[in-house]
Amino acid sequence: MFLFKALNFLFVINVVVATCPEESIPWGTQCYKFYNKSVTFPEAERTCYNFGGHLASIHDGFTNTFLGEQAQKFLNGKDFWIGAVQFRDVVWGWTDNSTFDYSNWRPGVKEEHDDCGVFRINDGYWIKDFSLNYRSFVCQTSNLETSPPPNPCLDKDWYFYEPTNSCYLVSTEEYNLTDAENICISHGGHLASLHSHQEAIFLMDIETVVYWAMRLGLHFDNQDQTWKWLDGTSTDYMPWYSNTPSKPPANYPCVSLFENEDNGEPYIDNGPCDVEQPFFCKKPVPASSWQLELIK
Ligand SMILES: *[C@@H]1O[C@H](CO)[C@@H](O)[C@H](O)[C@H]1NC(C)=O
Ligand SMILES: *[C@@H]1O[C@H](CO)[C@@H](O)[C@H](O)[C@H]1NC(C)=O
Ligand SMILES: *[C@@H]1O[C@H](CO)[C@@H](O)[C@H](O)[C@H]1NC(C)=O
Repeated sequence: MFLFKALNFLFVINVVVATCPEESIPWGTQCYKFYNKSVTFPEAERTCYNFGGHLASIHDGFTNTFLGEQAQKFLNGKDFWIGAVQFRDVVWGWTDNSTFDYSNWRPGVKEEHDDCGVFRINDGYWIKDFSLNYRSFVCQTSNLETSPPPNPCLDKDWYFYEPTNSCYLVSTEEYNLTDAENICISHGGHLASLHSHQEAIFLMDIETVVYWAMRLGLHFDNQDQTWKWLDGTSTDYMPWYSNTPSKPPANYPCVSLFENEDNGEPYIDNGPCDVEQPFFCKKPVPASSWQLELIK
């Protein structure tokens, strides 16, 4: 009887351990995976999203120490991104949206425009760094989930947003309007249209506060004297900063999404089309994804 119980116990332990994705380390209710490759903060977060989680969030000193020790083994002494980010320029949070209830900033760390958290391997303190610098990183996922939900976009670079049943791509490469739209078209979409405040917030969240201006698919049609979305959808949501475009539409017919630095709210503003900017693409969920759903 005792033996049976003991075996049962081992079996249970085994199952829990086995739920961590390959090459990740179980710790408490979480699995961590270190990535030696150096990438920008948004790219690190995107890799973690495909891993089934987010950049690691740290909620106590034990976990902080644990991660520091593990990093020594995996990262060859390199400092690394954790999920700490200054959300919409206003308040520090974690990319997994958990409460920012613990921090370990290096004493005297400067309050700069650097908006992402880096774990210092030498002393375990965190410092702030510009999101487009290249660093190693650590991802985290819950080991209680058996597997990440399948991405209906069928492409790891695209984010799924259920309320619009659409897929979104964040391009950190900068292009002018024509080239950006052509890139979106080549992926089966268009520069992104916006139809609600929630959708704008979603875009700001997947873009993880990196850029000031992200190009959208809104442009002024000089012939019709109206604003149009390149994907042909209706212009039912245009959150201009002060209810109207800030410059003459005829000369500044292109539009970007901005973040209000005071309250973190999204707004749009118009500008020239030849400026090279990062941008969002948007496309419907690929049909084959629904076919896959039906087969299940
Ligand atoms: C991590 O990358 C560095 C070079 O950036 C390399 O020297 C080291 O061997 C790598 N470590 C592991 C564990 O892959
Ligand atoms: C983040 O957390 C807040 C409060 O806990 C919740 O209202 C919000 O929906 C969460 N957002 C996401 C994207 O999970
Ligand atoms: C964008 O750049 C391409 C060349 O890369 C050029 O052919 C095109 O006219 C430009 N479009 C705008 C709107 O400036």
